[in-house]
Amino acid sequence: MASFVTNHQKPYAALSPTLPGRSLAGKSAFVTGAGSGVGSYITRGLAAAGVSRIGILGRNKARIEKAKDAFAKEFPAVAFEAYAADITDDPAIAAVFKAFGTPDILVNNAGYFPDEGPFVEQDLKKWWSGFEINVLGTAIVTQKFLQTLSPGQKAIVLNVSSFAAHMRFPLIGWSGYNGSKLAQARIFENIRFEHTDVRFVNIHPGCLDTDGFTRSGAPAPAGGMTDGKLTGEFFAWAATDEAEFLSGRFVWADWDVDELKAKKEEILEKDLLLTTIDGFTRGW
Ligand SMILES: NC(=O)c1ccc[n+]([C@@H]2O[C@H](COP(=O)([O-])OP(=O)(O)OC[C@H]3O[C@@H](n4cnc5c(N)ncnc54)[C@H](OP(=O)(O)O)[C@@H]3O)[C@@H](O)[C@H]2O)c1
Repeated sequence: MASFVTNHQKPYAALSPTLPGRSLAGKSAFVTGAGSGVGSYITRGLAAAGVSRIGILGRNKARIEKAKDAFAKEFPAVAFEAYAADITDDPAIAAVFKAFGTPDILVNNAGYFPDEGPFVEQDLKKWWSGFEINVLGTAIVTQKFLQTLSPGQKAIVLNVSSFAAHMRFPLIGWSGYNGSKLAQARIFENIRFEHTDVRFVNIHPGCLDTDGFTRSGAPAPAGGMTDGKLTGEFFAWAATDEAEFLSGRFVWADWDVDELKAKKEEILEKDLLLTTIDGFTRGW
């Protein structure tokens, strides 16, 4: 299958956080669902790029505290703060941002694969829980975060989306996940026009061997699973000035950043990497 640019499975030199212009020193970040899986790799990627203070959140208090201790051991120069809350709990999330303050970088990673078979057979209450977490929960975290910003304050919101939001091939038994991930991505494409000082980027993190991936029943991609370190480094890169041109767009974490940067003018001129309908001419 042709890709927009070359895909990688492992970390590569051009993604290194030690390259000039890649440092996130002095920045603060907040990552939801950081206690395991994709979120833990993104947290490590941000810490390795020099983020000095990182808030991490998950529902399971023991798990998020344990993750905090592990991160602190690995990155002693970084201040980690753990919060136990459900992203669908509006007052709890407001209280979290009151306690943490406004991070420079918000990563909406917490998500859920709700499907248990073909649409026609599913318990739709269970199916809907994917929308509750992936759409409502992500919206609550984002809204509470945006409400902490002062007028004109710059910020970055990286949204962990999925290939499932836009890929054409048949994904049988994925209707709740696909629908919720597309809705989520579309919401960010829209609210970026209301917050022009905020960079919103939808990012497919790659295919990582996590509890969530196992639950989805997805087969390993032909090219192999994505190394979580690559995902973490890509998210850190997406928060640098180099990636400013991706504001409002949808990218994959396993895409080659040099090739992506080389396509910058094309992406901006043709307004690429947005959700749309194939074959439909843009504009009115
Ligand atoms: N793995 C992949 O290959 C892949 C591919 C594409 C996209 N993604 C996306 O990547 C993200 C993470 O997926 P994953 O594979 O790492 O899944 P995972 O292994 O199930 O981890 C999900 C994390 O989110 C937290 N979480 C779930 N629901 C939450 C809620 N309501 N409130 C707060 N925290 C919550 C969980 O912690 P608690 O249980 O403690 O709350 C857990 O740490 C998801 O958005 C997923 O859609 C993953």
